[in-house]
Amino acid sequence: MFLSGIYVIKILMTTKNKLLEILNKNKEVFVSGQEIAEQLNISRTAVWKAIKTLKDDGYKIESVRNNGYKLSSANNILSDIEIKNNLLSKYKNFDIKIFKVTDSTNKQAKKLIAENLFDNGTTLIADEQTDGKGRFGRSFFSPKSTGIYLSTIIKMPLKLQDISLVTIISALAVCRAVKKLTKAKPQIKWINDIYINGKKVCGILTEAVSSFETKTADAVVAGIGVNLKTNFFPEELREKAGCVSNENISRNVFAAEILNNLFSLAENIYDKQIIEEYKNLSLVLNKEIKFLSDDTVITAKAADINDKGNLIVKLSDGKTAVLESGEISIRRLKD
Ligand code: BTN
Repeated sequence: MFLSGIYVIKILMTTKNKLLEILNKNKEVFVSGQEIAEQLNISRTAVWKAIKTLKDDGYKIESVRNNGYKLSSANNILSDIEIKNNLLSKYKNFDIKIFKVTDSTNKQAKKLIAENLFDNGTTLIADEQTDGKGRFGRSFFSPKSTGIYLSTIIKMPLKLQDISLVTIISALAVCRAVKKLTKAKPQIKWINDIYINGKKVCGILTEAVSSFETKTADAVVAGIGVNLKTNFFPEELREKAGCVSNENISRNVFAAEILNNLFSLAENIYDKQIIEEYKNLSLVLNKEIKFLSDDTVITAKAADINDKGNLIVKLSDGKTAVLESGEISIRRLKD
């Protein structure tokens, strides 16, 4: 009895998944119940039930007698099914969990790590965060339905000094998604911010859970916050923050694109090409920058980025200094 219950749920999930795929392929066009039934090899009643499940999940589906069903273009729902439909096949079995609302996906991801309830690629995505975390204890504005707030757990043996590389690949993954899905030209402000037309559109918070004995990270949480279509910001952010695009981009497609790139970059995290690509997108290289060192403001020129993702700066006395992202005594002023 119990087993057959599980079986029924599995069938229903597969049907829902496939139905969503059919409706997505035929956006703005009605597909008849009969056609769906034939394609999925199920009864008309089963089609109707699956449509109802999608509607219960919040999908807007028009149904017109003698015409069939049509997915409304107004849909803006984060869906694990749609994200998985857009993932490369080798990543489709990674665990993706969607929250309508949560405090912070990074916080929830660290909880999963503490309880050992995760795998490489486990990803948490929220429609809204009530306590989104930024770097240096700042908060990250995470209003509902307009952004992508995701935390992916990367499980690989990484030396603690190499953790910045996870921030680097996360930034590249977002830039690649922006370039593929929009006309915008993203740039990276070392080490974790992405800018478009002078406005910050994405921030990244990488947090490692490490083993004291081995001095390696057991798991690293790559927390990525993208203002995809967020247009309204609180007063204090208005001058600095912006959004990726005003076009109607699906958050599911965008999230999947980030994940496809993030996972594949993680497979070759020590590849030298990664730093080259990162440098080509840099907003700071060859520019004057300021940073805090022991409470003193230092002005320097951003000269290079090394293999570990550290920023090499040229100081006014001609000496060079290496800025590490995780270094708490050295902090950039403008963030
Ligand atoms: C920053 O700009 O300082 C980093 C912001 C990182 C925000 C993301 S949103 C998803 C994940 N969950 C969080 O609480 N923070 C990160």
